Amino acid sequence: PRSIYFSRHGESQFNVEGKIGGDALLSSRGMEYAKALPALITQSVGDKPLTVWTSTLRRTIQTAQDLPYPKLTWKSLDELDAGVCDGMTYAEIEQEYPDDFANRDEDKFNYRYRGGESYRDVVVRLEPVIMELERQENIFIIGHQAILRCLYAYFHHLPQVDLPYIKIPLHTVIKLTPKAYGCDEERYPLPI
Ligand code: F6P
Repeated sequence: PRSIYFSRHGESQFNVEGKIGGDALLSSRGMEYAKALPALITQSVGDKPLTVWTSTLRRTIQTAQDLPYPKLTWKSLDELDAGVCDGMTYAEIEQEYPDDFANRDEDKFNYRYRGGESYRDVVVRLEPVIMELERQENIFIIGHQAILRCLYAYFHHLPQVDLPYIKIPLHTVIKLTPKAYGCDEERYPLPI
């Protein structure tokens, strides 16, 4: 059976600073994760073919750097666009845009950042990615928190209201193996 692997990019400099969005490079811990990934993945995949998909953002490309497989970058895999809030911390957003901050808390799935996107928008832009995923064999997606929440919810048939709160930890590979009904799941956390 074919498997779909998911991982967030390694810890980025923005993750360290608590800032959202942006196009930061990996932190030193994030680089360690990128260095440790090839052994974990080659061990799990064995001699089966695998293709690595990343976004166009540097933190995913850097995380994929040492993986010995063909790679494809997708603009549609870029992180949820936080519009005017891009590059801010949650505390700064609450300070600068208190109504928006409250509205997002009220309906996180539908809340659209000023000049940016909602989770609902991301679900729509991921449709072609999902169509292609359904046609492919083994794929490893190195993505972003909001994006992986949407893909994970699709494969596990999770409701929209829960989707924006799904826990996708850093430095963990999630392996999904689609079955006739639903998916088997294994998680490989790396102690980095
Ligand atoms: O903080 C990392 C990050 O990927 C941000 O770039 C993004 O805006 C955020 O997580 C998405 O998570 P949430 O929807 O919970 O704010």
